[in-house]
Amino acid sequence: MSIISKDISKAVALLKADKLVAIPTETVYGLAGNIYSEKAIKSIFETKKRPFFNPLIVHIASVKQLEDIVSHVPEKAKLLAKAFWPGAMTLVLKKQSIIPDLITAGKDTVAVRVPNHPITLKLLKQLPFPLAAPSANPFGSISPTKPEHVARYFKNDIDQVLDGGVCSNGIESTIIGFENDELIIYRLGALAIEDIEAVVGKVTIKNSKEISPDAPGMLDRHYAPSTQTFLTDTILEEIKKHIGKRIGILVFKSDLKQPTITTQIILSKDGDMAEAASKLYDAMHDLDHQNLDVIIAERFPDFGLGKSINDRLQRATFSS
Ligand code: TXA
Ligand code: MG
Repeated sequence: MSIISKDISKAVALLKADKLVAIPTETVYGLAGNIYSEKAIKSIFETKKRPFFNPLIVHIASVKQLEDIVSHVPEKAKLLAKAFWPGAMTLVLKKQSIIPDLITAGKDTVAVRVPNHPITLKLLKQLPFPLAAPSANPFGSISPTKPEHVARYFKNDIDQVLDGGVCSNGIESTIIGFENDELIIYRLGALAIEDIEAVVGKVTIKNSKEISPDAPGMLDRHYAPSTQTFLTDTILEEIKKHIGKRIGILVFKSDLKQPTITTQIILSKDGDMAEAASKLYDAMHDLDHQNLDVIIAERFPDFGLGKSINDRLQRATFSS
């Protein structure tokens, strides 16, 4: 029997019993557990094979719950929450002492967001506790944007994938924190920097582990297919280097019409970056299951969601 189901009461019962449930969000599917259950949180790390130094995001039902989770909300965080929640933005703020160290990897800050998905909001409202939910993929691999992606990874490990259909944004939330009074982007994501800056002014990007030990999840290689993947500005040149191999192509909008390639996925024929972002991971899952020798991806224009897509493609590659 499939573990994919729309039964919210079943999810409530499982979560209350310290079990894990994969939940839909507008970004990607999350592997959720009760933040106050040591058993559930440990099993999130075990199931994902995620190292304990990598902290989790706390998901709450509404901005009202924020005061239970964090001890101080800076003015600019209030503006951001008002503008973008429920939505694809995670805030990193000073934590309340009640938040377990296991969630925050011992840090004095906690990452939190109100996700924008009707089913998960309904679920959160029925639970007496918030949910910790990292993306529902084994550590380092491609994030899931469909219930089937999660079931393929974890059908033997969890009891339910709560079916919320295809994730509309398709890449993870943008993570924003504060260092003194400066706003820092720790992870590029589904909310474009330009939209954030329109609300709070200039932000600084610190999204690599070299420049920011405060963003422990920002590994160089992540979101990665098992097929060798390249990211390039000059796709026709890159294809020439691999002639004779089974080549899979991932392009933004233009049909390459190359006889030497095995398969090609066009992310948005209309050149719409939001559409491209929403299809990105599904395309990567798809190409990774076609027995290809290489995947060659085209670099996106470096603005708006293109920046976030490039970040994910870069981390999916062996070389640049
Ligand atoms: O869109 C999303 O954010 C999805 C959905 C399920 O909500 N969740 C997600 O979680 O992407 P995960 O665990 O795959 O990524 C969480 C990221 C990690 O890179 C982690 O290092 C960072 O959040 N993070 C968590 N707590 C942090 C903290 N206190 N300071 C800095 N970074 C933090
Ligand atoms: Mg993840």
